[in-house]
Amino acid sequence: MSEGACERRCFPSISRSPLKEQKMVNLNEGSKTSNKSLDRKHWILQQRRSLPIASVERRLVDEVRKNDTIIIVGETGSGKTTQLPQYLFNAGFCRDGKVIGITQPRRVAAVTVAKRVAEECDVQLGQKVGYAIRFEDATSTSTRIKYMTDGLLLREALLDPILSRYSVIIVDEAHERTVHTDVLLGLLKKVQDARLKQHKLDKPYINNVVKFDNECHSSNMKFAPLKLIIMSASLDAKGFSEYFCGAKAVYVQGRQYPVDILYTYHPEPDYVDATLITIFQIHLDDGPGDILAFLTGQEEIELVDMLVHERLKQLPECSRNILTVPIYSSLPSEQQMNVFRPTPSNFRKVILATNIAETSVTIPGVKYVIDPGVVKSRYYNPVTGMESLIIMPISKAQALQRSGRAGREGPGKCFRLYPESEFWKLIDSTVPEIKRCSLSNVVLQLKALGFDDIIGFDFMDKPTRSAIKQSLQELYLLGALTDDCKLSDPVGIQMARFPLDPIYSKALILSGEFKCLEEMLIVVAMLSVESIFYSPREKLEESVVIIYEMALLYFSPPVIFYYKARSAWKKFSSPDGDHLTLVTIFRAAVEYREKIRSATNKEKAIDKSLSRWCRDNFINNRSLKHALDVHSQIKVYLEQMDMSLSSCGDDVLQFRRCLTASFFLNAAEKQPDGSYRVKANGQNVQIHPSSVLFRTKPECIIFTELIQTNQIYVRNISRAWMPELSQYYDVES
Ligand code: CDP
Ligand code: MG
Repeated sequence: MSEGACERRCFPSISRSPLKEQKMVNLNEGSKTSNKSLDRKHWILQQRRSLPIASVERRLVDEVRKNDTIIIVGETGSGKTTQLPQYLFNAGFCRDGKVIGITQPRRVAAVTVAKRVAEECDVQLGQKVGYAIRFEDATSTSTRIKYMTDGLLLREALLDPILSRYSVIIVDEAHERTVHTDVLLGLLKKVQDARLKQHKLDKPYINNVVKFDNECHSSNMKFAPLKLIIMSASLDAKGFSEYFCGAKAVYVQGRQYPVDILYTYHPEPDYVDATLITIFQIHLDDGPGDILAFLTGQEEIELVDMLVHERLKQLPECSRNILTVPIYSSLPSEQQMNVFRPTPSNFRKVILATNIAETSVTIPGVKYVIDPGVVKSRYYNPVTGMESLIIMPISKAQALQRSGRAGREGPGKCFRLYPESEFWKLIDSTVPEIKRCSLSNVVLQLKALGFDDIIGFDFMDKPTRSAIKQSLQELYLLGALTDDCKLSDPVGIQMARFPLDPIYSKALILSGEFKCLEEMLIVVAMLSVESIFYSPREKLEESVVIIYEMALLYFSPPVIFYYKARSAWKKFSSPDGDHLTLVTIFRAAVEYREKIRSATNKEKAIDKSLSRWCRDNFINNRSLKHALDVHSQIKVYLEQMDMSLSSCGDDVLQFRRCLTASFFLNAAEKQPDGSYRVKANGQNVQIHPSSVLFRTKPECIIFTELIQTNQIYVRNISRAWMPELSQYYDVES
């Protein structure tokens, strides 16, 4: 990196606490020096005992015994997620085969915490301690402590409306107020009532047993009251307490060292660049300690990862001791635990994380936090009825959580990449997701759970009437609802069974009729991962266009890299659009994998070859693996529904017809100026430069993603099939 870049940014300290340079306590140090598992066990035990929550174990268990619903508030890292389920297990809450369920808003948190707790309990993952997330189930009939995503528990309620296998449900990270958490809270209130009623009515008769999922429970236990625990890292428990009819709130004291907050003098025009500069500034100027940088998503994390390594090459050998570790929700399971591995001595770990590291996942060793002040969030435009992911400013509560991560093990520093005046302009706390996302999925799920009156549903924060009406209309247009707003049979019922956005579920159902399910399944799997292309596509694409026009191409290594990537992708490219391009990539990868498999049956060797294939073709190996996983999981759902995998072969028109019929709500027409107008709502959009149709610009397109940067782009585009489209829209419209 250039020296100038380092100097040009200066962070005035505004709240410098009188800190002595203190050597950081690294809780992982024990494991660095020891290879013996006994030492590791001893170290884990010590670590558990030193957690703030450990001193209140008895009191917490008593409170849970005394109250059917409690709210536990505690600072991040105090031990709520990992310890409380173990305390309750030890106190006998899993007697008679009952399970303690803990929901997390994010997949990574469910997986990493379950792994950690299995290790703490000294059991194999999937036995006493397990996890279940969409497309992945690591539980068994002996699982008693089950971590899962909140969405997954909602799906379980479809099959078991009173959640009879659970004695306790802990809704963790409730302060995040994801749409699934909010729906779950409403549902759990009802389940708790139903269980209490059943419990009062039930006459226990010990000898009679009911069979449930290969397990036998005595029927008197089946309807025991459900204990509900709401856990939150935000100090404001009032809202939850009021929602749960005055439920008791219990506070767990945290441990927080002082954190020095530093701001920039001026707003940063490019926070990614500012993050990079700050990483190197800390590395070169500050004392030991790991860095946690908050970024907005997988692509950005991969871009920064690549740029850090590129710039490291410009540093003297002795300063290249940086180890980068990414963490984001769709990171494949086997890579998720890397972030918890002890940093090799003399190295500085740089954790590149999404807002998952704000409260969901606590990473030891962090002394420096870099906070660009932004987050990628779902945003629903009630006027157009369309949802997109946009990068927006965080709230004050999030900024405080982020800086708090630097002071868990000793005094730390937080570099806010914005001026202090900007901090005061941030909203106090994040608007619940239910108020800013499309409700189609929520409505479909609630209907499937038997709640027909969506407007009357007991939401903690009610979504607007117009948002509910819009989603009812969308579901009706997709054929999921009947004229009187009931779930249609079979389409609506089938759609609710897929763990997918309603529009994707509909595409799968329709493609069965159009005899191109094989292709559509690939498309849905590939669209379920963040980015299949290995290249900082989102960032570069826009700069490429500008730089290309300025004929400065050869000055920038990332742009050259991008052009190499683009020529590698050419062989997969389909003139019909990005969806068939994705199909070609998927098939080429599978074909290559099978070729390797015929030569060796060693999974590791196959994996290695496939990653090489990905590297050569500039395909994101992590995303491809994830897509392969999702593909095989959805296939199981299709098989359960007796849907056979038919292929349209070379008949691409058939596929385009099906795509048009499935995504007709996402059709857009070319305008004289080369932009597009979305037919359903008149919104003006541009084709994203990463699309294979960027230069061709067909008359009418179908898109499956809307992204908002400085412009509104549509991405993943195919040519629409006009005769099919005319069935849904008037010719003049
Ligand atoms: O839920 P809360 O934020 O209160 O804390 P926790 O997630 O239970 O974490 C308690 C401790 O376990 C922290 O010190 C974490 O660093 C540690 N932990 C870990 O080392 N590895 C994990 N996979 C999860 C937690
Ligand atoms: Mg937690």
